[in-house]
Amino acid sequence: MTERTSKFNNGLATDYELFYHVFPYLLEMEGITAEYAALHFANDNPDAVIDILDIGSGTGCTTIALLKADSRFRVTAVEAEPKMIVQLAKNLAPYGDRVRIVESNILDYRSDLRFQAAISGCCYHNMNLEERMELFTWLGSTCPIGSLFVNFDKTAIDDETAHYRSFQKMMRMMEKFEEMDRPDLTRDWREHYILDNRPTYRFTEAEQRRLLQENGFGQIAMIHRHGMDAITVAVKQ
Ligand SMILES: C[S@@+](CC[C@H](N)C(=O)[O-])C[C@H]1O[C@@H](n2cnc3c(N)ncnc32)[C@H](O)[C@@H]1O
Repeated sequence: MTERTSKFNNGLATDYELFYHVFPYLLEMEGITAEYAALHFANDNPDAVIDILDIGSGTGCTTIALLKADSRFRVTAVEAEPKMIVQLAKNLAPYGDRVRIVESNILDYRSDLRFQAAISGCCYHNMNLEERMELFTWLGSTCPIGSLFVNFDKTAIDDETAHYRSFQKMMRMMEKFEEMDRPDLTRDWREHYILDNRPTYRFTEAEQRRLLQENGFGQIAMIHRHGMDAITVAVKQ
């Protein structure tokens, strides 16, 4: 497991649902991600199963949004952290065989399934530059032509001043946990953000675009953004 995934082995994992209080856009981003995927496949065979890879599923918020958005979606949910897996299994249980949960670092995961979409919520920024390079190289080789890429994530704005403005705003938002009598979460989430912002981890718009282009994805677009929180889409060429 990478250094960062193990950082979800504490209150950040067990109380992940509380993150919604400090990240008001989370529900909105999950919803837009799922709706975008549903729209992308709207004109495909109404009876065909559509296989989706959900990378870093956490407690399953984005996975559930996807499952609700289109009944043809069958999701392989890959998650590295055991504390998240416990919640994931519980939350996804109602969806039966439309979901397959895989406990694995995505960098160790390989499959014969030809996924029609690779979707992720707030996961890639947890990896360092080398790991992301490895992951996007694999995505480029395994995703068939026409397959969809959607990522909503902490994506540092290329304009550094704008990025730091957004970063500081998120750091201030963490104070809400203190009002909830959870200063431990203020501390832990702030630490998490600071670690993610190190030069070897910070995931910038430019890096994401480059990794997508280098690995055969086109039609790259940022379809939604609140500061550093952005949704990026692309299609494998
Ligand atoms: C911030 S949570 C997001 C969860 C969920 N996708 C959502 O939309 O709310 C990020 C998740 O990615 C997982 N993760 C990070 N790096 C990973 C990796 N290399 N392989 C698999 N899971 C990873 C973490 O354990 C964590 O559960």
